[in-house]
Amino acid sequence: MPIVHLNGRFVPESEAGISPLDRGFLFGDAIYEVVRFDRGRPYRLAEHLVRMKEGLDAIRIRATPEFFPSVADRLLTENGLSDKDAFVYAQVSRGAAPRYHAFPPENTTPTVFAFARETDPPPPPDGGRAILLTDERWGRCDIKSVNLLPNVLAAQTAKDSGAMDAILVRDGFALEGTKANLFMVAPGGVVRTAPNGPRILPGVTRGATIEAARRLGFTVEERAFRVEEMFAAQEVFFASTTLWTYPLVSIEGRTIANGKPGPVVKMLREALLAEFQGVPA
Ligand code: PDD
Repeated sequence: MPIVHLNGRFVPESEAGISPLDRGFLFGDAIYEVVRFDRGRPYRLAEHLVRMKEGLDAIRIRATPEFFPSVADRLLTENGLSDKDAFVYAQVSRGAAPRYHAFPPENTTPTVFAFARETDPPPPPDGGRAILLTDERWGRCDIKSVNLLPNVLAAQTAKDSGAMDAILVRDGFALEGTKANLFMVAPGGVVRTAPNGPRILPGVTRGATIEAARRLGFTVEERAFRVEEMFAAQEVFFASTTLWTYPLVSIEGRTIANGKPGPVVKMLREALLAEFQGVPA
């Protein structure tokens, strides 16, 4: 039975109960983070915590991510994950209160929940298939809110069609996956990804991928690309905490380039992995 963290206590998962009136449950009134650990060492923890703080501030939950480092450490230890590739999920909701849409009384305590789990094995190295779906999310995709219904529905539609994920498309632009940022390599080798802003999540891995690409000598353009540009790309790939970078070799039934993972995504994946595992660049 995994040990989880709830409001300052470490308890078996089956004993961790929240109020049915918790606003995370009723309204999705909460934010979350997912941080990856290599044998207890976090990957870019500071950046995750900055994003968490910005998310809390953006939705005006009075809490700080200060709890995270010590809670994560203890969760990894308690669950025997200190020598593994694992991740810690943490969520902060606005707390439990009688159900009114507007904020509850000032003295309502935010609910803090966290768990740790071993990272899933990576998907097969020969690349994935994705489908295209209209992006039905709200206008603040930069906030890592637990309101993930459009992502959930899109991920299930992808799964039902045998694809690994969906690429979300708005106004003809291919923006990101349901749980990963999206990159393409244009003919000529320019690496491109949508700019940070309200349409995408400012992924920590996205930032690391851009840094690594520049370090490796690639030109990186942060500008949104159209679906047609993507179909003409040399490479298309996802970037996220759980995947690092991962190639897409077929999108909406159309083969990308020669249908094989390209060299850029591989180089970037190796660069991110080396950083994660503490190998000097
Ligand atoms: N998802 N875009 C979306 C919509 C995401 O949900 C995520 C992360 C990312 C990548 O962000 P990062 O590199 O910081 O993990 C991009 C997490 C892993 C999840 O929901 O499980």
